[in-house]
Amino acid sequence: MKGIILAGGAGSRLYPLTLVASKQLQPVYDKPMVYYPLTTLIEGGIRELCLISTPHDLPRFRQLLGDGSRFGLTIDYREQAKPAGIAQAFLIAESFIGNDNVALILGDNIFYGGDGFNKAFAEFNGGATIFGYHVNDPERYGVVEFNAASQAISIEEKPKSPKSNYAVPGLYIFDNEVVALTKAQQPSARGELEITDLNVSYLRWGKLRVQRLARGFAWLDAGTSSSLHEASAYVQTIEKRAGVKIGCPEEAAFRAGFLSLAQLSDLADQMPNCEYRAYLCDVVAEAKRLTIQK
Ligand code: DAU
Repeated sequence: MKGIILAGGAGSRLYPLTLVASKQLQPVYDKPMVYYPLTTLIEGGIRELCLISTPHDLPRFRQLLGDGSRFGLTIDYREQAKPAGIAQAFLIAESFIGNDNVALILGDNIFYGGDGFNKAFAEFNGGATIFGYHVNDPERYGVVEFNAASQAISIEEKPKSPKSNYAVPGLYIFDNEVVALTKAQQPSARGELEITDLNVSYLRWGKLRVQRLARGFAWLDAGTSSSLHEASAYVQTIEKRAGVKIGCPEEAAFRAGFLSLAQLSDLADQMPNCEYRAYLCDVVAEAKRLTIQK
């Protein structure tokens, strides 16, 4: 499966922060926002990635992530000239996707906890898989309605009167049909190729799986000043308490087997003296200790 990180958009809700760096490069506590969705895809076992952003911001992402080899990945970069809709990602990345299935993640979505996604990635066998997450303010999102048998029966984008409290987070897994389907799609009234329209098509075909995320799972979007602040506070709280990092792609790549212990150790050695390096050194030391014990 291939992976796409969509990290474009105008970032107008974070102005003036976005005058100097795009939204997905802003810090969420101790690392750039894009590290979190990147880590989610790595944890899902995805090694071939494409990052889409604006012509203006793309060079900064390249500077940050390079060709991906640092994380045992390949990363392609593609431009989105204008924010013409989330689904446009499948047209921009068509040659990258080739004949594969594809997971799309939004660059401002942060997920933490459980192994709900790993199962979804591992068990994906065609059609589309999306997720449902209980929220307080469903009208801000795509909203999925379930029947008594827990089957999804409708999905609406930002409805004024939501039919449930289940929002659809920004992680979508599609089979290769998604490219042809997007080509046949018409822009919505706001002029965008809507991800929700794609999900509705799969729902009508009977090929949409909606997995409800468990209560202990955290989904944060960091698209406004206050949600950015809340996301930082959340990450700090968990990291301090548990002594583990959320959204650490180097560690995730090591645990996924994309990097060897020696490679992880070299990476840490190349970093300046900082808390991030100290953390990776602890991960390396612990892994060495466990290897010796075996
Ligand atoms: O966060 C999940 C929600 O994301 C879903 O529940 C909604 O169904 C989905 O439409 C989307 O809603 P948003 O209102 O959050 O979409 P927004 O336009 O803010 O775009 C989300 C991210 O994707 C944002 O970081 C910018 C990026 N983006 C968006 C568009 C439309 C692009 O890079 N290019 C685009 O053309």
